[in-house]
Parts: sequence; C-alpha cells; structure tokens
Amino acid sequence: MAEATPQVGGDWLGLTDRVCVVTGAGGGIGSELAAQLLSAGARVALLDRDTARLAQIADSLGDRAGRVMTLHCDVTEAASIESAATQVEQAWGPVALLVNNAASLYADALMDIALDKWNQLLSVNLTGYLRCAQTFGRRMVAHGGGSMVHIASISATIPQPYSGAYSVSKAGVKMLSQLLAVELGEHGVRSNVVSPAMIRTPMSEGIYQDPAVRQRREQIVPAGRISTPADIAGAVLFLASDRASYISGQEFLVDGGLTQAWLGLIPRPGFEKSDTAAQPAS
Ligand SMILES: NC(=O)c1ccc[n+]([C@@H]2O[C@H](COP(=O)([O-])OP(=O)(O)OC[C@H]3O[C@@H](n4cnc5c(N)ncnc54)[C@H](O)[C@@H]3O)[C@@H](O)[C@H]2O)c1
Repeated sequence: MAEATPQVGGDWLGLTDRVCVVTGAGGGIGSELAAQLLSAGARVALLDRDTARLAQIADSLGDRAGRVMTLHCDVTEAASIESAATQVEQAWGPVALLVNNAASLYADALMDIALDKWNQLLSVNLTGYLRCAQTFGRRMVAHGGGSMVHIASISATIPQPYSGAYSVSKAGVKMLSQLLAVELGEHGVRSNVVSPAMIRTPMSEGIYQDPAVRQRREQIVPAGRISTPADIAGAVLFLASDRASYISGQEFLVDGGLTQAWLGLIPRPGFEKSDTAAQPAS
C-alpha cells in the first residue's frame, strides 16, 4: 500500500486503523507495544505462545472498540504463524506492521552448550523472525507494502558472553532486517531494527532482584536509569509510521547512551569529571 504524506496534528504518527501484529505480545515489551499502538489508534493483534498471559493483557487493555485481538502463535511453527496471519487478515484486512519481538534467553557458556539448546534458541530468536517475516512479508508484497520492525538488542553488535546463542541470534536479526530492506524495498516494504539495552521486564527481572546490582547498572548508563518498555515502544511506533517512510535497513539503539560510555568508564587521571555542568550559568 502506498504510504500517505503524514499530517501534523493530533494523529501525528498516522497509525489510526492500521492493522498491526506484535509477536511475543505477552511479554514486557510486547504488551507495552500493543498498548501504545492502540493509543495511537491502530488495530493490534497480539500473538504469543502463552495464551494465559495474553488473556490477562487483553483484560488490562480493555475493549477498545474491537481493536484488540489475541491469538495463540508459536513462532517456531510455520502453520501456527500462517493460521494467525489468515485470522488477522480475515477480520481486519491487510497487515501494515509486523513487530518481530518474541524471543527467549538463558545462561550458557559456549564450551558447555548442547547443540539442541543452541538450535532451540535460534529457532525462536532468529528463524522465528524469518518465518514471521516470510508469512507477513508475502502478504505485504501482495497488498502493495508495509513495515517491519524487529526487536534485536545491543548484544547484536557487542558480545554478550555466557548467554548461549542469544548474541548470535540478535546479530542474525540485524542482518536479516537489512536483507529484508533490500529484497523487499521495491515492493514498498520497509524493515528496521530497534535494539534495546537494559530494560526491566519478565525476561530480565531476575537480574534486578538485588538492589546493589540495579544501582551498579544504573550508574554506568549516561541516562542514569534502566529503560522501560515505553522507551522502546516510542522508537517502534516512529519506525512503523509514515514519518519514517524513507528509513529502511537501519538500527535504532535505544540504550540511554550506554554504548557510547566505554571510554568514560576507564580510569584516566587528569581527565576526571568537573562540577561545571551542574552549576547554574552565570
Ligand atoms: N528485557 C531486556 O533487558 C531486553 C534487552 C534487549 C533486548 N530485549 C529483547 O526484547 C524482546 C522482548 O523481550 P522482553 O524483555 O519483553 O521479554 P519477555 O520474556 O517479557 O517476553 C517475551 C515473550 O515472547 C514469548 N515467546 C517466547 N517464545 C515464543 C515462541 N516460540 N512463540 C511465541 N511467543 C514466544 C514469551 O511467551 C513472552 O511473552 C526480545 O526480542 C528480547 O530479546 C530484551
């Protein structure tokens, strides 16, 4: 579908009535994405393999005049994705946005990891993204265009050790998105990545149980805080919208400046922080 020139004003993003699909919508980021897309006027299909969690989220979102749909979908199963895509299209028409977000993470050292665990994680975090991109991408091409946003991680670029195949899967997602941007661009389909850093969600909750760990994490982020799912949703909604109609094949890092902070963390006598920035201008 041709992307219209967006209007400045109340509906700045121009997402009203757009049909959007979010995978992993039962999770911390996915549920916030669904809520913000709804607030922007879109129709949102929430896909997850955890149907109990989906039901809770649908309850919390309220009725929203029929603009919410929850569907069981396991992104490792082609038939499951196909069935979800068909149900969304039959109910609402062509899908304008796919957010590839469903993923999992567990601790493992490369020297110890069993191949079936390696393959299992890749089948969700990477092949699952490809399968969804294929199923929804073919439909977008048939209907004249659309947009995909893939949630990766700063660990797509910076190695995250002892996390099994996680970093590898996210690096793969980055390249997958770039390839989709190139291969589908002529069909009016854009593809971009949003890479979070540290966020507090069910996936990472265990890490934040110790207040000392949370504080140490906050101290190394220039923004001085751990991000929230809302920080990620803002970037996704922008990339999904016609405001970003000439942005494709890109990665947005939503990291509070973390990836720029390394040199400032190295002790360097004579180059310490001064108090000038905190003083009122004279
Ligand atoms: N939380 C963080 O600190 C963090 C940091 C960087 C990137 N991310 C990325 O953000 C995205 C969302 O993560 P989150 O923090 O909201 O995690 P989360 O664990 O809260 O949510 C993940 C959701 O994915 C679903 N899911 C897992 N496997 C699935 C499958 N096979 N089919 C369908 N659904 C499946 C789960 O049921 C869950 O609802 C992920 O891609 C994650 O890698 C998270």
